[in-house]
Amino acid sequence: MKVVLAYSGGLDTSVLVRWIKDRFNAEVITFAADVGQEEELNGLAEKAKATGASAHYTVDLQEEFARDFIFPMIRANALYEGQYYLGTSIARPLIAKAHVEVARAENATHLAHGATGKGNDQCRFEISYAALAPDLQVIAPWRMEEFRKAFPGRSEMIEYCRKNGINVLASAKKPYSMDRNMLHISYEAGILEDPWFDPTVPENKDMFRLTSDPVDAPNEPEYIELDFENGDCVAINGEKMTPAQIMKKLNALAGKHGIGRVDLVENRFVGMKSRGVYETPGGTILMFAHRQVETLTMDRDLMHLRDSLMPKYAELIYNGFWFAPEREALQAFIDKSQEKVTGTVRVKLYKGNTICVGRKSPYSLYDENIASMEGVKSDYNPDDATGFIRLSSLRLRERALKQGVSEDA
Ligand code: ARG
Ligand code: SIN
Repeated sequence: MKVVLAYSGGLDTSVLVRWIKDRFNAEVITFAADVGQEEELNGLAEKAKATGASAHYTVDLQEEFARDFIFPMIRANALYEGQYYLGTSIARPLIAKAHVEVARAENATHLAHGATGKGNDQCRFEISYAALAPDLQVIAPWRMEEFRKAFPGRSEMIEYCRKNGINVLASAKKPYSMDRNMLHISYEAGILEDPWFDPTVPENKDMFRLTSDPVDAPNEPEYIELDFENGDCVAINGEKMTPAQIMKKLNALAGKHGIGRVDLVENRFVGMKSRGVYETPGGTILMFAHRQVETLTMDRDLMHLRDSLMPKYAELIYNGFWFAPEREALQAFIDKSQEKVTGTVRVKLYKGNTICVGRKSPYSLYDENIASMEGVKSDYNPDDATGFIRLSSLRLRERALKQGVSEDA
């Protein structure tokens, strides 16, 4: 039996390489997706092989992640529960897809992952596997009682590694769990489980890795211009870039100015509430700027309809249904809505804030002649408003006359 294990090189997945090998008498191949977690990927192949993997794959997914996952999601202005930029959620289907591809290349029969049995990630991975490779079997050790019994805590894992000659850096455990990619870092669990715990006070604030504290950010604002074409950012300050380059550049700019921190409590798919702290630097600027181009170029009713569908779209991504027909159909609608979302936004970055100071577009629907109060001749005739208002309020007049005025009066 051949198993491909999603591997990070940390203590948990190092234990998993060996444990799966022994427990299932299996050949274990490790796989890591490069979705922009930077130095976390260093030395993985050597480490995996030293731990007992017969082969290791690190697959570079950075451009694909930005182009085919982050950017389509930005077109929707997707936020989960009004606050979460979905940084972990949107990476999971891509990681699952690459995981399946490695399994195919290796003729493996099983996919294994180290997500816990209490979270969203197990759902996202396994729902994606089901959609892409219904024939492959899944091994999720954290949902196997024998595994949980063998490893009730970190010390048992360290002891297991010692006994089995597995070299893990016995670095002090961070008092929270982290997930990093090109869109964000999430921090949760451990000390963050108390929703009153403040990670921004001086004694805790070295947790943040991508953004400076707005208090320490430069006192001078920085102005940048973003060009959009069909809803996608294509250039910063006039310089054309690929989607992944755009993300990295915006991460650096936003990080410097302390933009993109969110501290929230969210509803997990499996039912419980969970406290999370996030840094989504570039994504915060990107979504804000995208919305600004839309304000100029997008038809009102199209925008309102798209906006009404966004919470559903965000929930599908959060819950792990990227590869579901309803997400694909919504995406087709969202992409169609972006046909004229082309233009330039000028934003000011200042101490945690992204402030729009200008926008322009060759497709702008904004018409100073119509909008201004000066009586310039245009399509808009104020006389038409008399009948427009009379008909719009007809039913309210009838209600007042026949049923009495609103009780709220
Ligand atoms: N709560 C966030 C989400 O569900 C972040 C999850 C972080 N995952 C992790 N394995 N640390 O998308
Ligand atoms: C995990 O439980 O593996 C991480 C948190 C989550 O998936 O929600």
